[in-house]
Amino acid sequence: MFTLLSQRQAHLIEQMDAKDADCKQLEQTYADFYTLNRLISQWKRVYAKYIRPHAKEIQRQGNVFKVCDVGCGGGDIAFFLFNWLKKDGINAHITGIDIDDRAIAWARANRIASAEIAQVNKKKSIGLFFECTSTTELVCRDHKVDLVINNHVLHHIPFEKINPFLTECAALGTRVICNDLERSSLAYILFSLCYPLRYRSSFIYEDGRISLKKSFHKKELEELSSKGWRVQRLFPFRLLLMYEAKS
Ligand SMILES: C[S@@+](CC[C@H](N)C(=O)[O-])C[C@H]1O[C@@H](n2cnc3c(N)ncnc32)[C@H](O)[C@@H]1O
Repeated sequence: MFTLLSQRQAHLIEQMDAKDADCKQLEQTYADFYTLNRLISQWKRVYAKYIRPHAKEIQRQGNVFKVCDVGCGGGDIAFFLFNWLKKDGINAHITGIDIDDRAIAWARANRIASAEIAQVNKKKSIGLFFECTSTTELVCRDHKVDLVINNHVLHHIPFEKINPFLTECAALGTRVICNDLERSSLAYILFSLCYPLRYRSSFIYEDGRISLKKSFHKKELEELSSKGWRVQRLFPFRLLLMYEAKS
């Protein structure tokens, strides 16, 4: 039973990625990400340890902290981050991007309008924005930010495209933090026990199980990423793949 996920099952495809996915279920999936990410993704820890000190340094230099959340889905991580930075008195310009226009439409409708904290100050270019675009397009536009983040995106990308994706992230951001699941049979069993999720009108249960089968072991991420990247485990079932440009 515990060798269940010894091999990565990269060929599996999440239901949310289907072009003809049921709209209502897809929208509920974006909404469910909000709760799921609060419970399991541990961005608050990542924020306290890696992001806040960096953001404070940028603010101290008199600049707005610029962030790009790649593959933002329903926009919840960008939204959390904007909120935390605001609470800490740090001015930020955060853009959530996704190649799926359904995700961006949902994020625009639900993560900006519902948040009075996300008011836009065009003069100082502070705010929370969402755009349907790719890292490739942003690199072509010579877009630069202080930090690129992504959550549950690495395992989504076809294996041969991961390295080019990481290269683009590193071209966009002075620092990059990729936060993803660590493939683990125990995590799979524990998540599978959240059986009531199966009855939600969303893809969260089946796609969550698929994601766990497609995610990486620490060693696999170390082997696929190039020089300058490092992998860190985040207890209990997370991996951070991080990059910092040499100054
Ligand atoms: C599992 S969802 C995660 C969404 C969100 N980050 C979260 O954690 O709730 C993965 C998202 O990544 C997006 N995605 C996959 N490959 C991408 C790429 N190359 N560039 C931008 N977005 C991508 C998908 O469209 C999808 O919305």
